Amino acid sequence: MTYDNIYIEEEDHLATITIDRPNKLNALNKATIEELHQAFKELDEDKAIKVIIITGSGEKAFVAGADISEFAHFSVMEGGKLAAKGQELLFDFVANLSTPVIAAVNGFALGGGLELAMACHFRVASTNAKMGLPEVSLGVIPGYGGTQRLPQLVGKGRAMEMIMTAGMITAEKALQYGLVNYVVELGDLIPLCEKLAGKISNNSTVAILHAINAVNAGYSYDADGYAAEIEAFGACFGTNDFKEGTSAFLEKRKADFPGS
Ligand code: COA
Repeated sequence: MTYDNIYIEEEDHLATITIDRPNKLNALNKATIEELHQAFKELDEDKAIKVIIITGSGEKAFVAGADISEFAHFSVMEGGKLAAKGQELLFDFVANLSTPVIAAVNGFALGGGLELAMACHFRVASTNAKMGLPEVSLGVIPGYGGTQRLPQLVGKGRAMEMIMTAGMITAEKALQYGLVNYVVELGDLIPLCEKLAGKISNNSTVAILHAINAVNAGYSYDADGYAAEIEAFGACFGTNDFKEGTSAFLEKRKADFPGS
């Protein structure tokens, strides 16, 4: 498939998706959300790809939010549908993807942009990054999971303050809050994400998939995280990756996981 609003680069086991609407600060319009859905789906189905990095083009923005021009005239019903469809196609889709996704936050991550970064499995930011959920300044609330994922990551009080003030926090503050795992100079952002992706790629993709599901179960209102962990732990014992991982350890060699 060809894409107009994003591009994908692949090298070894890593795919990098770049949202490419720099003139609109990479704001997420409908077409971009649909393209991202397709890209994540295809990369997730490609067993050669073990980690996905997502970032924004240019030096100013990761994503400056949902495209305000597209929903300014929406009705109550259209607003509800916008949030539901976006969560299904992109935000929940990424959070539950079996391939690890790292957000490389290279500038503004506002509204839907921060929500996208938060849907990723973890985040790395550059020093120029600014993060916030400004929706209440537009008379609306975060609708792509922000009211749920921000308190999970930074705690309820900090999330309430960020949402109510509609303010932006610096990368340093985001690091202090635990919203991002690292802050580095812009030029070091992708190299650090690639280094982390390399470490992840050495491990069992099947075990990682089970770990993602178990961690996510703990944040799901209709799942018991501890029970999910027990089930996933047991399931690992039936995999070729488990046989290879344990054999390699006992034989004092590096594991070469078959990914099954
Ligand atoms: N939706 C649609 N267009 C957006 C956008 C968004 N969320 N964010 C930025 N843009 C567009 C601007 O309209 C402008 O387009 P134009 O040149 O055709 O007029 C372009 O991107 C550049 O943005 P601009 O506002 O000129 O840049 P700036 O450096 O002065 O300000 C921001 C940067 C991020 C502070 C500002 O763009 C902003 O507040 N954006 C909206 C953030 C937001 O509320 N997001 C949540 C949406 S729910």
